[in-house]
Amino acid sequence: MMLMKKYHLRINIPTLLVALSLILLCVHYLSSAKCSPSDQEEIYEYYNFDYLLKCDDDTFVLVHKILRELDKWQNKGTKRELYWGFFNGKAQVKRSGPWKEMDWILCDYYLPYALGGGYVLSYNLVQFIVNNMHILKLHNSEDVSVGLWLAPLANIERKHDVRFDTEYRSRGCSNQYIITHKQTILNMKNMHEYYQASGALCQKEISNRMSYRYNWTVPPSQCCNRQAGIP
Ligand SMILES: *[C@@H]1O[C@H](CO)[C@@H](O)[C@H](O)[C@H]1NC(C)=O
Repeated sequence: MMLMKKYHLRINIPTLLVALSLILLCVHYLSSAKCSPSDQEEIYEYYNFDYLLKCDDDTFVLVHKILRELDKWQNKGTKRELYWGFFNGKAQVKRSGPWKEMDWILCDYYLPYALGGGYVLSYNLVQFIVNNMHILKLHNSEDVSVGLWLAPLANIERKHDVRFDTEYRSRGCSNQYIITHKQTILNMKNMHEYYQASGALCQKEISNRMSYRYNWTVPPSQCCNRQAGIP
């Protein structure tokens, strides 16, 4: 709790710290683009951690499930760095609206990146970003920036996970989800209560939007074809 207080004072954004080796960082999405790299710097300097989960304050997270998955991943002993979330490789560069990128000149699309509703980075990836912060170009969207910054690294596993409902709007409710974005406070309270009582996330599973399994063997423009039946 003391840590949390100190953290609040230092960066002045809504922040939630969770025990064990996971730090859960919740920033309001409006401030995330401008705050996130320095947040990562603060976290890197002040806390011991193995993984960092970045999410927004309208993201509902089943933390124990994230931790369990991280344990499993670590026990596989791959010794690779982890970049885990719901990836997109064919996102069109936004030229208007709050997330517009006026000086993205690299290609027609962004580079593959994990969508900002929630993603996990292993320690060394955060360290890499922090150590190079002064020479990295910061784009308007923090999630797009992270995808770009981590693009040239070797020995990194980009783990696309359909259990991350982390797009700009929720795909609905699936009991497979371990993170779900764009939730109101009331939604979160209800979900929490229902989860506590029943062990399931959704009172009724619904799909408002099809999903995809990322195909890493084809060019990014063909990576992400939405299909029915995927959470
Ligand atoms: C990826 O695309 C290739 C070529 O279309 C296809 O053969 C393969 O089954 C796909 N893999 C997955 C995991 O969808």
